[in-house]
Amino acid sequence: MADLPPLHPATVAVRAGRQPTRFREHSEPCFLTSSFTFDSAAQQAAIFAGDEEGFLYSRFTNPTVGCFEERYAALEGAEAAVATASGMAAIATTCLALLSAGDRVVCAREVFGSTHLFVEQWLSRWGIEAELVPLADLDAWERALARPTKLCLVETPSNPTLAMVDLAALSEVAHGAGALVAVDNAFATPILQRPIAHGADLVITSATKYIDGQGRVLGGVIAGNEAVVKGEIFSFVRTTGPCLSAFNAWLLLKGLETLPVRIKAHCDGATKVAAWLATRSDLAAVTHPSLPDYPYREVAARQMEGPGGLLTFDVGSLERAVRVVNGVSLFSRTANLGDTKSIISHPASTTHARLTPEARAAAGIGDGLIRLSIGLEDPRDLIADLERALAE
Ligand SMILES: Cc1ncc(COP(=O)(O)O)c(C=O)c1O
Repeated sequence: MADLPPLHPATVAVRAGRQPTRFREHSEPCFLTSSFTFDSAAQQAAIFAGDEEGFLYSRFTNPTVGCFEERYAALEGAEAAVATASGMAAIATTCLALLSAGDRVVCAREVFGSTHLFVEQWLSRWGIEAELVPLADLDAWERALARPTKLCLVETPSNPTLAMVDLAALSEVAHGAGALVAVDNAFATPILQRPIAHGADLVITSATKYIDGQGRVLGGVIAGNEAVVKGEIFSFVRTTGPCLSAFNAWLLLKGLETLPVRIKAHCDGATKVAAWLATRSDLAAVTHPSLPDYPYREVAARQMEGPGGLLTFDVGSLERAVRVVNGVSLFSRTANLGDTKSIISHPASTTHARLTPEARAAAGIGDGLIRLSIGLEDPRDLIADLERALAE
C-alpha cells in the first residue's frame, strides 16, 4: 500500500498488513504451525542470529500474528505492535518489560479490576512501587509525578465508570516528568480514539472485546514506537511466552475488518438505550458520553470520535441491582463486553469484587451500579427488555 495516499481507517482495517503468498489467496491465511523450516544448517544459524530475515518459531513471530500486529498498529497510527494472549497479558507485559526493581508506576484508580490488582498487589513483589491517582485529576497526576516515575497507566474511558482523562494534558505532564504514558484503549478502540495522536507513548488493548467483537477468543496488543515495542516489549514476549496464537490472531484480524461498521452500530444502539434510560425518574444516575450531563463531554469532544457502546446506570441499591440483572431476558449475564450480543453486568459483585469496598467506592463503583455493553440487536428490543426488568 506504499504507493497509495494516506488511507481512511475503514480501508486500513480491511487492507493493512496483507501479504498474499505464492498461492495468491484473497483472504488472509492462518498459519497454524509451531515452527518453520530451513534450507540448511547455515540458514538456520543465520536466521537465529538475526543476519537473515525469516520465521523461526511461533512464540517469536508468525505471519498471521504479524499481519494482525501490522494492521492494528496502522489503525492506531503507531509504528509497531506486538500481540499477546489476552488484554491482561498485554498490561503485565508492558509493566514487566519496561519496569525494573526500584522503578515507580503511577496508575489511574479507575481501571479494570485485574489491572488494579496487578498494579497494587503484584508489582510490589518485584520491587516496583505503584501509586494510584484519580484518573481525571491532573493536579493529582502532577503531585504523583513529582517523584521519579517511569510509567503512567490509564484507561480512558474507564471500566466501568466511563471516566476520562485529557490525554494531551496528561502526556504533557508525564513527559515533563520523564515518564511514559500507556493507555488501555479497550473501550474506545482505534476507531473512536487514537491515543498516540494525543501524545501517549503506548496503546494497550484487550482484543478480546470489540476487536474480536463476537465473544470467541482472547487476545491483546501493545502498540507504540518501534524502538520500545520491537525492543524490550517484543524481547519480553519472545522470551517469556505470553504470545498470541495464530488461530486467535486470524480471528482478530478478520474482526478488525468489520470493526468500523460494528463500532458505529454499537455507538448508535448505546445512544438510544442511554437516552431512554435518562428519561426514567427511578434511576440515581445514567452515564453515557452521548448524554448532555456526561461529566467529561469536553474531553470526549476533543479526543473521541463517538460515544462508545458501554453505558452504566445506578438503580440505587444492591437488592434492586440484583433484581434488574436477574430480570432481563435478552441481555446476557456474562463477564465479557464488546460482543454482538448485549451484556449486563454488576461490577461490584463481579469484575471489581476483589477490590476492597473502599477502593470500589473511590473508583465510583457503588452497589447499585449496572454496566451495559450494547450489542448489535435492535435497540427497541433491548429497551423493552430493560423496561420489563426495571418494572419488577
Ligand atoms: C479495560 C480492560 N482492560 C483489560 C481487560 C483484560 O482483558 P482480557 O480479559 O483480554 O485479559 C479488560 C477485560 O474486561 C478490560 O475491560
